[in-house]
Amino acid sequence: IISSMILIWLLLFFSAGVSQCAPEKPKRSALNQLTRTLLRRYDCGVRPVHQWTSVTRVYVDLILLSVLDVAGKTQSITTSIWHRQVWTDEFLVWDPEEFDGLSEISLPSEAVWIPDVIVTEFVDAGKAPPIPYVYVNASGWVRSYRPMQVVLACSLEMFAFPFDKHNCSLSFRSWLHSAVKEIDLALWRSAEDVASDKREFMNDSEWELLSVPSRYRHVQQDATDYAQIQFNVPIRRRPLLYVVGLLIPSVFLMLVDVSSFYLPVNSRTRIVFKVSVLLGYTVFRVNVTEELPSTAVRTPLIGVFFVVCMALLMLSLIKSMLVVKLLHHNDKEVKQMSLSACLLDRQSFERSRLLPDYELETSLEEDLLSLHEEQKAPSGLDWLLQELASLRLALQQDQAESVAQAHWLELCLKLDRLLFWLYLLVLVVYAGTLLLLWTSWSFA
Ligand SMILES: *[C@@H]1O[C@H](CO)[C@@H](O)[C@H](O)[C@H]1NC(C)=O
Ligand SMILES: *[C@@H]1O[C@H](CO)[C@@H](O)[C@H](O)[C@H]1NC(C)=O
Ligand SMILES: *[C@@H]1O[C@H](CO)[C@@H](O)[C@H](O)[C@H]1NC(C)=O
Repeated sequence: IISSMILIWLLLFFSAGVSQCAPEKPKRSALNQLTRTLLRRYDCGVRPVHQWTSVTRVYVDLILLSVLDVAGKTQSITTSIWHRQVWTDEFLVWDPEEFDGLSEISLPSEAVWIPDVIVTEFVDAGKAPPIPYVYVNASGWVRSYRPMQVVLACSLEMFAFPFDKHNCSLSFRSWLHSAVKEIDLALWRSAEDVASDKREFMNDSEWELLSVPSRYRHVQQDATDYAQIQFNVPIRRRPLLYVVGLLIPSVFLMLVDVSSFYLPVNSRTRIVFKVSVLLGYTVFRVNVTEELPSTAVRTPLIGVFFVVCMALLMLSLIKSMLVVKLLHHNDKEVKQMSLSACLLDRQSFERSRLLPDYELETSLEEDLLSLHEEQKAPSGLDWLLQELASLRLALQQDQAESVAQAHWLELCLKLDRLLFWLYLLVLVVYAGTLLLLWTSWSFA
């Protein structure tokens, strides 16, 4: 029994060993075979030409996806693009008939030669998803398509914000290989197609892409000619967001401030109101400061606009304070001031008003004189009469004072109105100038 068991075990062992030793070898697929054949003697460090004198022409294409960020402080813009390159590789050629009719294949990009075409304006390698393959067809055309995020150096002029336009460029160039001997560049599509291609551009972003003009030229550097293809990216900001968020609230606050001139001048509410408007404006400005672009050289005009608006609000507050101060002078000063005011412009009016007073005065004096004459009258009655006369005098003085006060009020109102019209004029001229500037920029 034991020997039979051992036999069975041995049998099992051998059968397992046999099956391990001789696995069924699968036939290589056409894809696998082609890849091996192509890469067997391929050297990815060598420019793929049979004749070293022949130039490799790299066709470049660019599709702009979006403008992500425009940074005035660092003078750079961040864009998202699709960068396409196509070139011929003379060593990656095969006959599709030999490989099951396979005419296109993807190869690992580190295994084949890749031209060193880069964007010369780049300042920071943005994020780019790794694309590990290039696509090759049977006649040796290699296509390398990659999405990239590039941070470009670009001269940005923010003065016209939020109506600004910028003209940035992306220049593709082989960093080391000269155009005449090694790597030449060309556009893959026609320049017109590239210029009008805005299909992929994000339509609803803050930036509007005007067109993508491109041109080919040679740049000389250290006595070497490099081929360069420059794509210009003229972009314009959509100002609506900023007009609604920054300009209109500002204008509203100014309007509220202007309308506060219709509050009565002799109440203090106007000053309280204006202080609240100024306070509101300050809070508003603190909130919007982050939205303004910052440049080192010139502040945008809108920043100046805010400061001038604030200055105007302050001016209007000071003006109101001045008027109120004039109104609430103590009486002595009022009398003096009203006297000078009378001297200034209301002499005739004053005279006409003072004439009856004068008559009254004389009649009063006559009364008093008559009183003095009638010394023989009973002393009680005499005293009463004297009291009455003095009362009348005091009343008259009071009346004269109130008349002066009325004149003073009128003068102050006049001054207030004059200052108001002056203020309005300054405001209108200021608003008109800015409006003209901004419209000319936005339609330029
Ligand atoms: C390879 O691609 C190029 C460019 O698209 C094309 O002109 C050529 O005919 C293609 N070759 C084959 C064999 O498909
Ligand atoms: C942008 O600048 C380039 C030169 O760098 C110029 O040729 C092109 O006309 C400019 N585009 C616009 C819209 O101003
Ligand atoms: C942008 O708008 C154009 C038409 O103006 C349209 O053809 C294109 O598909 C739009 N692009 C996107 C990404 O929505």
